[in-house]
Amino acid sequence: MKRIMITGALGQIGSELTGKLREIYGAENVLATDIRPSDDTSGPFEILDVTDAQKMHDLAKDFGADTMMHMAALLSATAEEKPLLAWNLNMGGLVNALEASRELGMQFFTPSSIGAFGPSTPKTDTPQDTLQRPTTMYGVNKVAGELLCDYYYQKFGVDTRGVRFPGLVSYVAQPGGGTTDYAVDIYYKALEQGSYTSYIDKGTYMDMMYMPDALQAIIDLMEADPAKLVHRNAFNVTAMSFEPEEIAASIRRHIPDFQMNYDVDPARQAIADSWPDSIDASAAKQEWGFKTAYDLDAMTADMLEKLKVKLQNA
Ligand code: SER
Repeated sequence: MKRIMITGALGQIGSELTGKLREIYGAENVLATDIRPSDDTSGPFEILDVTDAQKMHDLAKDFGADTMMHMAALLSATAEEKPLLAWNLNMGGLVNALEASRELGMQFFTPSSIGAFGPSTPKTDTPQDTLQRPTTMYGVNKVAGELLCDYYYQKFGVDTRGVRFPGLVSYVAQPGGGTTDYAVDIYYKALEQGSYTSYIDKGTYMDMMYMPDALQAIIDLMEADPAKLVHRNAFNVTAMSFEPEEIAASIRRHIPDFQMNYDVDPARQAIADSWPDSIDASAAKQEWGFKTAYDLDAMTADMLEKLKVKLQNA
């Protein structure tokens, strides 16, 4: 039986991962933690600032956790605005979570990102093992984090596992401070206003994935037979690659009058330009059977249907 502790449980991934894990493993076996208080009463919750190593350790120990899912981090655009805070939070939180996992013998998961690649990385079909010289603070954190997770496995035998997520799209929690957030905002604005002004320029391809596929990927990787994992950390995973005109076209299949405008934000455009256009997920497919259910049109249909209900009830 798993006893899982999640950090950043109120964030973009954590807020859905918590519910999914509670369905599978039982609500009482999933401890949600975040720096902010929660009004979710579906299971145990504790306030945790991930830079507080002692409290993180104590919470995991008292809960009897055998698994740590470390989701707390600043995303790419915020990290560029506050690089020192990003370093302290992203790296400090990660090393604390790895230390707690080492000391308490927990299995460990943390997400890396397409942000771990940089301008000198091959742009299309970006291989699993390739040049990683990111030019953003977020990317520096993610590469260092991938290496640190490998190190904790090799040096201490901690069962660390991870994926490089692309932009994640969901109708539940909105992301904050990411470069790929436009692919979420666009669905809200399409329903609310019938138009969207994109801060990412047309022609800019980035990998994306619908949240149900991302959650399934986490669960499948954590359940995978360790003997089959050659890479363990930082598996490339993706479901689709598109540019703003293509997501707009997908939305027009449901909202024919949808208008797309552009007001490019140079800061976030520069980040997007430094990332791959499309990554190759074949190592994840081979080593633990990674698969996805949603392509762009399937995601658009589901997003618009679910978001319409959410906005009507808001
Ligand atoms: N969605 C993230 C971001 O834009 C990428 O990991 O920062």
